[in-house]
Amino acid sequence: MKKVKVAILASGRGSNFKAILKEINAGTCNAEINVLITNNPDAPAISIAEENDIPVEIIERKFFTNREDMDVKIKEILDQYEVDLVVLAGYMLVLKGKELLEAYKNKIINIHPALLPSFPGVDAQKQAFDYGVKVSGVTIHFVDATLDAGPIIYQEVVDISNCKTAEETAAKILKIEHKAYAKIVDSFSKGKYIVDGRRAKYILD
Ligand code: GAR
Repeated sequence: MKKVKVAILASGRGSNFKAILKEINAGTCNAEINVLITNNPDAPAISIAEENDIPVEIIERKFFTNREDMDVKIKEILDQYEVDLVVLAGYMLVLKGKELLEAYKNKIINIHPALLPSFPGVDAQKQAFDYGVKVSGVTIHFVDATLDAGPIIYQEVVDISNCKTAEETAAKILKIEHKAYAKIVDSFSKGKYIVDGRRAKYILD
C-alpha cells in the first residue's frame, strides 16, 4: 500500500505532529512526513522535525505584503515536496490563498479541539469549559476558505463533565486528538473521501 506523503503545518508545540510521527514509526500510520512548514521560527515543532530528519521551511508573515502572497509561497513548497496531504496541526493562521486552496482542495485537513460547529476559533477547550457543556470533543475536517467550517471527516466525543479547569479539559481532549489524527491520516492510504456539499463520505480503495 502506498504511503501518504504528508506536509505538516504547525505554529507551536507540535504534539499532534509528534503523535503522528510516533504512529508512523510504530507502523500504525501508513504515511511519511516530507516537510514541516511553520510561520513561527521559535516553534518547538521545529526541533521535533530536526530530530527526525524532516526538512523545515519557515514562512514568516512579516516577509510578505499580504496573506495571499504568503500562501502562494506555501503552495510552491507543497508542490516542491509533492505531498498528497496537508495536515494542519496547530497552525494558527487561517489559510487565505485562493490559489493554494484551489490546488489543494480536499487535500488539506485540520484538527479542532471541540465538536464543530460549537466553539470555533481559538481556545476552544476553554470556551467549552466556560460554557459548562458536559461533552466536547475533537473534529477533523477539510479546510476551505471558511473558519473551522469545512466538510467534517471525523468527530469524537469527549466527556468533560468531571474536568475542573480549562487546562484539564484541554489535556483530556488532546489525548484523543493524538490517536484520532494519526488514524485519519492513515485512512488516506487506504481509501478516499468523496466530498459532496457538506458531507465527506469515505470509500475504501
Ligand atoms: C491542538 O489542540 C489543536 O487541536 C489546536 O491547537 C492545538 C495544537 O497543539 N488547534 C486549533 O485550535 C485550531 N483551531 P499541538 O501544537 O501540540 O499539536
